[in-house]
Amino acid sequence: MAAPHSARRSLLFVPGDSQKKIEKAATLPADTLILDLEDAVAPAQKDVARQTVATALSNITFGRIERLIRINPPRTPFWQKDIDLTLPAQPDGYVVPKVESAEQLQQIELYLAAAEHEQGWQSSSIRLLALVETALGIMNLKAIAQASARLDALLFGAEDLAADSGAIRTPGGWEMFYARSVLLTAAAAFNLHAIDMVYVDHHDLEGLQQECKVARQLGYTGKMAIHPRQLDPINRLFSPSPDEIEQALRLVKVYHEQATAGIGAFSLDGRMVDKPVIQSAHKTLHRARLTGLLPDT
Ligand code: COA
Ligand code: MG
Repeated sequence: MAAPHSARRSLLFVPGDSQKKIEKAATLPADTLILDLEDAVAPAQKDVARQTVATALSNITFGRIERLIRINPPRTPFWQKDIDLTLPAQPDGYVVPKVESAEQLQQIELYLAAAEHEQGWQSSSIRLLALVETALGIMNLKAIAQASARLDALLFGAEDLAADSGAIRTPGGWEMFYARSVLLTAAAAFNLHAIDMVYVDHHDLEGLQQECKVARQLGYTGKMAIHPRQLDPINRLFSPSPDEIEQALRLVKVYHEQATAGIGAFSLDGRMVDKPVIQSAHKTLHRARLTGLLPDT
């Protein structure tokens, strides 16, 4: 599987037919932008959106921000045209919504491989990210996660899943617990980024932060956003805190000292420390480097 790209803490959706919002998005602190051709764009506006996205990608400087495009779902007649009209502008990747099977991703994989070849680009240079947001998609996660070498993230879509499964959305989100957990587990098993659901009430920053904390506890590495004001809280909560970094550095240091003395498990501050604790500490330090909070070693 592909190595996940950068830190990818915050991924902001931007309606593909809004040149104004795309221009603004390029100035915002998102790690990733998802220029949308799917649900944020009315059917009559699809062509305008494809054109607007292609022109924006060619003309606007996005700096270090990753530029993704969300195409229409594999079972609609729109996705091929979405790729045909935007691929020449060389996005970093495509987000595929409502993925329900490995075959759907493989179909897009073949399409992208042919297009890359035609453009003379390095093969597998365009990334794929799968948004899983139907009951069938959740049942097929294991195959979806292994469908393509260019796949590097699984994204969890709660609103569409609720619409599909009949779940009633609540502030705590417990109705999503199984699907949200199993998606994270599939991503971890196949070395993919796991990106948490959108928080739709974009005025409620307290609720957003609560949801970010739970997502991090589950193991998610980033979260989709719909509004600029959501970016700072998401970036902060998906970065290791100064305390977490300090604690991880200390754990690794003490562990090495103990290991040198031939000791595998020991107590620190009244808690047992052994190999899995150190593995987690190394993950924290890796993310601290990715987010610029620690220098690269
Ligand atoms: N990307 C870039 N800029 C955005 C933005 C976004 N997702 N959402 C809002 N903005 C901009 C607005 O254009 C406005 O810019 P300005 O101050 O320069 O005029 C500013 O941020 C404040 O926006 P605000 O007036 O609070 O929001 P709004 O009423 O214009 O838009 C939404 C509200 C929900 C329609 C808008 O946030 C949006 O389009 N979100 C993304 C929707 C989407 O893509 N959904 C599909 C995936 S779930
Ligand atoms: Mg949707």
